Amino acid sequence: MRKIRKVVFPVAGLGTRFLPATKASPKEMLPVVDKPLIQYAVEEAVEAGMEQLIFVTGRTKNSIMDHFDKAYELEAELEAKQKTETLRIVQEILPAHVSCVYIRQPEALGLGHAVLCAMPAVEQEAFAVILADDLIDGREQSCLAQMVAQYERYSSSILGVEQVAEDETHLYGIVDSVLLDKNVHRVDGIIEKPARDEAPSTLAVVGRYILTPEIFEMLKKTKRGAGGEIQLTDAIAMLLQKQQVLAYQFKGNRYDCGSKLGYLQATIEHALMHDELKDSFKDYLSQLDLEQWTK
Ligand code: UTP
Repeated sequence: MRKIRKVVFPVAGLGTRFLPATKASPKEMLPVVDKPLIQYAVEEAVEAGMEQLIFVTGRTKNSIMDHFDKAYELEAELEAKQKTETLRIVQEILPAHVSCVYIRQPEALGLGHAVLCAMPAVEQEAFAVILADDLIDGREQSCLAQMVAQYERYSSSILGVEQVAEDETHLYGIVDSVLLDKNVHRVDGIIEKPARDEAPSTLAVVGRYILTPEIFEMLKKTKRGAGGEIQLTDAIAMLLQKQQVLAYQFKGNRYDCGSKLGYLQATIEHALMHDELKDSFKDYLSQLDLEQWTK
């Protein structure tokens, strides 16, 4: 079995829920405290052993390319000013053994279409997909590293899932599944954004996938589905007719940073974990007079 070493980051969505912030810059560049969402996602991928990062970008790709590129002028200035620690932070954004590929999605036709755009770079091997707007703090191990460990055991496609409230199922891809082992389910069906009374369960797919290359044949056949978009979920529904697909309930906290509330929760909790900020931010929060803001 070949090791998983390529990861696709679809970053070409329109990010309409965050307009106007996302008018000229992708939502994956929104910072949580001091790092953009895409950097958290890249760090998770590198921890899981990924060596090639494939970004599927849209109109606003430059800021992502620049973020992972060498910044000669900035580095020279930081060096001249002897800001050694800041220089280290800038230089260590990407380890030397990791390479980046950028592919353009000409039109935002949906997540499934974005993944299909990555096919020439992925070729015929199993690969990972990370949606950076789902920020996940794995506990001892990153979410993708936990999933890679499951792939090494089962050699099949694996979807990262978590339980959601019944009144939230219409926001996710929901699986119909049978428990195989601790936290591992066999997926028998999957449906994108079902109405509450049509959801087969409350187990929702979040932004982490390991997919076998056969997914591309399915994506080529996938027609526009929910919201008029080419849905990855619909291609997975076809894939599981041909081969086993698993769902894995990862350990960790997920923040839905594609929504304003989830983004604010991520910001507050990451500030409370941040070495430099946590004490002063905790003091600030404890003195905050909530009554004043809710009058
Ligand atoms: P979302 O469903 O969150 O859509 O995409 P969006 O356009 O980014 O945001 P809203 O809903 O308008 O606010 C899920 C992921 O799929 C990517 C997005 O960048 C995000 O990471 N995506 C979506 C693409 O790369 N291309 C697409 O055509 C659609």
